[in-house]
Amino acid sequence: MLIVNRPRPFDLVLAVPGDKSVSHRAVMLGALAEGTSEIEGFLPGDDCLSTVRCFRQMGVEIEQVTETVLKVTGQGPEGLREPGDVLDVGNSGTTLRLLLGILAGLPFFSTVTGDASIRRRPMGRVVEPLRKMGAFIDGRNGGRLAPIAVRGGQLRGIEHESPVASAQVKSCLLLAGLFADGETVIREPARSRDHTERMLTAFGAEVETEERGVRIRGGQRLQATKVTVPGDISSAAFLWAAALMVPGSRVTVKNVGLNPTRTGILDVFRLMGAEVTVEEIKEYGGEPVGTVTVSGGRGLAGAEIGGGLIPRLIDELPVLAVLATQAEGTTVIRDAEELRVKETDRIETLAGELRKLGARVETTADGMIIEGPVTLRGGSVSGHGDHRLAMALSVAGLASRDPVSVSRTEAIRVSYPGFEQALAWMMDG
Ligand code: S3P
Repeated sequence: MLIVNRPRPFDLVLAVPGDKSVSHRAVMLGALAEGTSEIEGFLPGDDCLSTVRCFRQMGVEIEQVTETVLKVTGQGPEGLREPGDVLDVGNSGTTLRLLLGILAGLPFFSTVTGDASIRRRPMGRVVEPLRKMGAFIDGRNGGRLAPIAVRGGQLRGIEHESPVASAQVKSCLLLAGLFADGETVIREPARSRDHTERMLTAFGAEVETEERGVRIRGGQRLQATKVTVPGDISSAAFLWAAALMVPGSRVTVKNVGLNPTRTGILDVFRLMGAEVTVEEIKEYGGEPVGTVTVSGGRGLAGAEIGGGLIPRLIDELPVLAVLATQAEGTTVIRDAEELRVKETDRIETLAGELRKLGARVETTADGMIIEGPVTLRGGSVSGHGDHRLAMALSVAGLASRDPVSVSRTEAIRVSYPGFEQALAWMMDG
């Protein structure tokens, strides 16, 4: 349970934990590579620890030197062994979907499952193309739901036209493509985050990027490397949004990842009238990183958010919806039907909880329409065990008349251990 009050304006310089997407991929590529990869800035959140646990179960040596420094010793794909028990990904969709791409190409049997939320999430989007590549996969509902069983083996490359812009689908097939005979090509309706492509390059593989897709040749070997993980822009988004919820506040986040496939949130902040400054851009293994300051000033305006922007801020939509309650006019979020198949149906769960605080939110098949500004009243809301929902609702408490108590916040540690501390600093002024 988290209780949030309206604070006085604050001016904070903060760091956020490592990027979740990059942390998962660093462990996975390190496990498939030859040699010892050192990972610095690893996110010690539940999701990434699930990835570590699964690879340890397959015999990969992973030493956790400190909370955020890992050494992963791989012996190529041949070094992975048949796991002696079911692999449990917990709440992590990224672990499950990327892992399936790896398991499909390995010559053994495995079963993968996860928590109740994971067991409701659609897996057909990766299982169907993996079957076309030659993998034997079965599971509940014809293989569309976990638990999923895989008998991996020799794969063949395919050309796949994904109906959704999903980095998890693209990455799953890129990893399977690495083991396959011939080439694998994946196309998607809009460009999703490209961390896998960048990191495969850092581990010595060749990946070709085309206008609407990517292409990988099978049989390439990965070489261990050092990975420095940027701060997670999806975690920083909650801090910046918090600054915008409390007029006169400002938050600077240092060493945050600025991969252009992830920075849609900064574009929308600017569109709404916030001041955003980006400084000190450098690169960590092909990933741009910088220091970003966000402050309000004049009132915010509602915005239209849709199209190719959606995959660039999909995980930030819950907190953007909260921010929209304080913006002048109508905010429309469209083309975001993917929100319905995240850790919860984020369209319905968020709208339902925000209405309890007095927000004016309408849901649509593919998004939300939010009218602002409204003075939120306090009250009790639930995070529904969804990390981003719990954090977004906590941010709502910063602008409400009376305190907001958020229950079921334990899931915050999935992606942002330390969020409660950052919130406490804001409330301390
Ligand atoms: C992720 C991709 C996105 C995102 C998730 C992390 C990744 O999911 O929502 O939090 O690391 O590849 P989809 O690929 O399903 O859009």
